[in-house]
Amino acid sequence: MDFELPPLPFKEDALETHISQRTLSFHYGKHHQAYMTNLKNLIQDTDLSKKSLEEIIQESANNPEKIGIFNNAAQVWNHTFYWNSLSPMGGGEPHASLGAKIAQDFGSFEKFADLFKQAGVGQFGSGWTWLVQEQNGSLKITKTPNADLPLIHGQKALLTCDVWEHAYYLDYQNRRPDYIDTFLKHLANWDFAQKNFEK
Ligand SMILES: [Fe+2]
Repeated sequence: MDFELPPLPFKEDALETHISQRTLSFHYGKHHQAYMTNLKNLIQDTDLSKKSLEEIIQESANNPEKIGIFNNAAQVWNHTFYWNSLSPMGGGEPHASLGAKIAQDFGSFEKFADLFKQAGVGQFGSGWTWLVQEQNGSLKITKTPNADLPLIHGQKALLTCDVWEHAYYLDYQNRRPDYIDTFLKHLANWDFAQKNFEK
């Protein structure tokens, strides 16, 4: 695998008023980078260092001896996916085929947004909220604790919101519901979700 983090897909101050440069600087430059540094140190000189990030995640999942590798590898993957789930031009309702599928599977975009918010608010402690597609094609909202992710549950991730406190505390303190509202109204990158849906 490549041991460098991909660059953020936008400038650190591009989401200002919704997510501050300070938050992004810590979140990407310290938290995300630390997961990558830890992973690199944990798998250095092992067979896993020659595998892709997805292979490392699959091979370390549900293995108590490799929990540290799994946690760091999954958090590297989750954060890269989260940056792409955000856009300075994001938020609002998706269009194209994913918009139609959301209306079909959840009843309406408003119902989807309510359920997505409930899942994020209801995740006890640290974790993630996801829009995923099941193998049978249906869309589903899930929440996962800590580093857990759709990949190891046979689901395709379409969009995610990081609900670890480090994602919002500097800007929203304890107001996780406000942070998730902002994600849905102003930041959710539906073009990215549409591309994942079409894969
Ligand atoms: Fe995070």
